[in-house]
Amino acid sequence: MTAANWAAIEGVAVKPLQKLFEEDDGRVERMTIEQSGLHFDFAKTHLHPAMVSAFAELASVVDLDGARDRLFSGDVVNVTEGRAAEHTAERGNGAADSVAQAKALQARMRGLIDVIEAGAFGDIRHILHIGIGGSALGPKLLIDALGRDGQRFDTKVVSNVDASALAEAVRGMDPKATLIAIASKTFTTTETLMNAESALEWLRDGGVEDPYGQVVALTAAPDKAIEWGVDESRILPFAESVGGRYSLWCSIGFPVAAALGWVAFEELLEGAAEMDRHFRTAPLDRNAPVLAAFADLHYAQARGCQTRAIFAYDERLRLLPDYLQQLEMESNGKSVTADGALLGRPSAPVSWGGVGTDAQHAVFQLLHQGTHLIPVEFLASKTPGHDFDPGHHEALLINCFAQGAALMQGRASDDGARSYPGDRPSTTILIDDVTPSIVGALIAFYEHRTFANAVLLGINPFDQFGVELGKEIAKGIAQNGPAGFDASTSALIAAAGL
Ligand code: F6P
Repeated sequence: MTAANWAAIEGVAVKPLQKLFEEDDGRVERMTIEQSGLHFDFAKTHLHPAMVSAFAELASVVDLDGARDRLFSGDVVNVTEGRAAEHTAERGNGAADSVAQAKALQARMRGLIDVIEAGAFGDIRHILHIGIGGSALGPKLLIDALGRDGQRFDTKVVSNVDASALAEAVRGMDPKATLIAIASKTFTTTETLMNAESALEWLRDGGVEDPYGQVVALTAAPDKAIEWGVDESRILPFAESVGGRYSLWCSIGFPVAAALGWVAFEELLEGAAEMDRHFRTAPLDRNAPVLAAFADLHYAQARGCQTRAIFAYDERLRLLPDYLQQLEMESNGKSVTADGALLGRPSAPVSWGGVGTDAQHAVFQLLHQGTHLIPVEFLASKTPGHDFDPGHHEALLINCFAQGAALMQGRASDDGARSYPGDRPSTTILIDDVTPSIVGALIAFYEHRTFANAVLLGINPFDQFGVELGKEIAKGIAQNGPAGFDASTSALIAAAGL
């Protein structure tokens, strides 16, 4: 049945954007959704009522409603690993026992922060958060976005196994005043454990007599953390059913709660919870994550777009494109459906982006005149993140809106080099301000959009087997050196003297 639905979707007439506006006076209103301090404008996408209906039909055939209910009820939705995906329970929307477990974890997190603030670990002024992928990207984004006006602890996030990152992070930190937070769902990740060992060495070298006494572990594998040397009282264990790239809401968010304060962390969770409720209850054609997924699928499936770009017209959100790369590509970059059959159509597009206005002077040439059709997402805040001349913020917003208009309207010219084809799509998300609750809602929006895309395609967005092979081969190289690999790899290993 879905093959017929996809054929129907691909067969829906694509109309030029300008025509869509001419045909429908109410288009802006129809294609705009206000939710939780976010204003979503989908009017400059090619979605139109017949297209939305075709996608809604597919949603009904694949039972998007049922999949959504199963997600929120804590059913096994990660079928390849036999697990639920319970990140929404961390913000209060999930199975009762999972929500209760999340609340108990929050109480422990809060208690530990109080104890640290009260001086039980010494005079802690810095937090060095060590993790990678989902155990780093969320905290890094949130601290960068929300901690600019001051942090209760000076917090740095280190992920790369290249110790230059660690060296840079600890520069200016006092070892005796530094808490090390080791964040790893599995507590087996090589990069994280290597960085953690080196951080302990740095504490020792800095005169700390009991380095383990300055360590907390954020993990779903407490036994492994204990084995590694962390005292049980300083482990904040989260549920196995919370996926790594969905884990900033649980104890992986510990440095966020510590640096920004508990009230801010609760606001972040509540903002996300509001978006959960919107995703659960809004009709499909007024549902921001679902409409965004319809547009994503139109471009990837019917128009052959291989990438989608997001530009944050706000320095505070400059790390969002990095965060979304993991969320979207690790979730939906798959070639098989959840039951192992070949997908047989494109999966997630490459997700990339940058910061406006900088990107205008670097990559927008291709967006306006290149041969690729790239759906663009603009993200901007009504309120600036600074007290300088308000002219800066006006210029930022003017540029953001001008780019969307230019991509859509284009301009014909007899001179090919100076003509703009136009009819290039964009979505604009205008937020009231960069606050914990709005950023929480924004990230939850992206999570649900990713989930809706996955359900419509039949993908399991919660596993990531694609990353395993490279890890195994790296272990083989570490153990065996150049022997036993293809000639090119062996030559590289030998040339590097490994
Ligand atoms: O290798 C990919 C991955 O498993 C991600 O999914 C995860 O976020 C990251 O590694 C870190 O894993 P962990 O939190 O277990 O250290």
